[in-house]
Amino acid sequence: MSTLYSGRFDVAPDADVFGHGRSLPVDHRLIDDDITGSRAWAGALARAGVLSQQDADALIAALEDVRRAVHADPSLITEAPDEDVHSFVERQLVERLGDTGKRLHTGRSRNEQVSVDFRLYLMRRIPVVQEALAGLVDALLVQAEAAGSAVMPSYTHLRRAQPVLVAHVFLSHAAVFRRDIERFDYARSEADAMPLGSGAIAGTAYDIDVDRLAAELGFSRVVSNSIDASGDRDFVATFLYACAMAMVHISRLAEDVIILSSEEFGFFEIHDSVATGSSLMPQKKNPDPLELVRGKSGKAIGTLTGWLATMKGLPLGYNKDLQEDKAIAFDAEDSLIGCARVTATVVRTLALDAGRAREAASGLLLATEVADYLVGRGLPFRTAHEVSGRISRDLYREGRDFSSLSLEDWRAYHPLFDEDIFRAVTPEAAVEARKTPQSTNPARVAAALAAMRAWLDSRRRDR
Ligand code: ARG
Repeated sequence: MSTLYSGRFDVAPDADVFGHGRSLPVDHRLIDDDITGSRAWAGALARAGVLSQQDADALIAALEDVRRAVHADPSLITEAPDEDVHSFVERQLVERLGDTGKRLHTGRSRNEQVSVDFRLYLMRRIPVVQEALAGLVDALLVQAEAAGSAVMPSYTHLRRAQPVLVAHVFLSHAAVFRRDIERFDYARSEADAMPLGSGAIAGTAYDIDVDRLAAELGFSRVVSNSIDASGDRDFVATFLYACAMAMVHISRLAEDVIILSSEEFGFFEIHDSVATGSSLMPQKKNPDPLELVRGKSGKAIGTLTGWLATMKGLPLGYNKDLQEDKAIAFDAEDSLIGCARVTATVVRTLALDAGRAREAASGLLLATEVADYLVGRGLPFRTAHEVSGRISRDLYREGRDFSSLSLEDWRAYHPLFDEDIFRAVTPEAAVEARKTPQSTNPARVAAALAAMRAWLDSRRRDR
């Protein structure tokens, strides 16, 4: 295999060492972006008077011919012997155009070429990642809408805390994924800087109109320094961070669903179509897809930290270490899209056991309501907390809850208790009693649900 730099060497590269350095098995995924970048470069060279318009037109036509050929038969590139996607395209051009094909790389380096390719790739793929996350938000909203006024316990320290609407719980995860989607907006804006014109490191010697080139390629700005540009992969780190964060969040959702659908909780049941069984224990219904999501999130974190470790020792400017970025970023992208889609399916098909959830929200976790009741009648909160704590402790010892107390029982604890205490200590009263916009108050939750739905719809419309 001849290389783009064989003139410099006496002998062909050692086959193992060449294989070690090849990136085509990974970076063939950038073929469309490489062709898009090269097309624009041909035009820019012609405008700078470096190429004749005739050569530029021939190059552009041949580039589109390569694109068509690869789309029609991907094995043309996946099985090609070239070093990387850039060498592959150049060889195709030379095969088609001879010397004209050899003119395209004038004033350009693979260092900036791979950067422009990868930036273009992320700018077009991040919206696809965001759509996968939007599908997950949609599934959460479908469940929140279906849950109506159903209540369940919320948990702190994985101990029953206070009653909340089931819809509020689904919306809590939706709020997290909305942040993730917006974080990817930032990741995309960081990739959005056009590096061509940087040359290998010092800038290009031709009069390239980089602003026009940027606009043509859909970039909103041009990089500010050629040395920085040739070795900058911060935009990859930011993408990996956004992926890792989203995977951590999908993992936490998976964990919630695994716990809440277990026999011990039983507030939800996962659908048969997304469960697995056991080869030995006939009764088992396992949440494997969610466990896998949890498992894959560990790798996403490792990918980010690994990439930061790769970058930390590099002198500024291009270093071949940077070539490792593609394999991990593609893997992070695939993994996140796959996990988001599968988790959306599991969430969408969850069945709520509203009776069991309400039952679990009806016990001693109403103790805060008891304290608030006394506060409403003038008792200082700390004193009210003590009274409610004493009642809770006695009931807990006797295996009973508040509903077993008569008015005399209540009054024996404090004379401020009255008939209306019975209406105050229900899960429905507890959620109704919350007031703030971010609370589980049913009117507030309805408003939050409508706002989240409107946000999702408008985002998807604007795509
Ligand atoms: N395959 C290389 C990469 O992904 C392209 C840039 C090669 N540049 C170089 N000077 N060897 O980073």
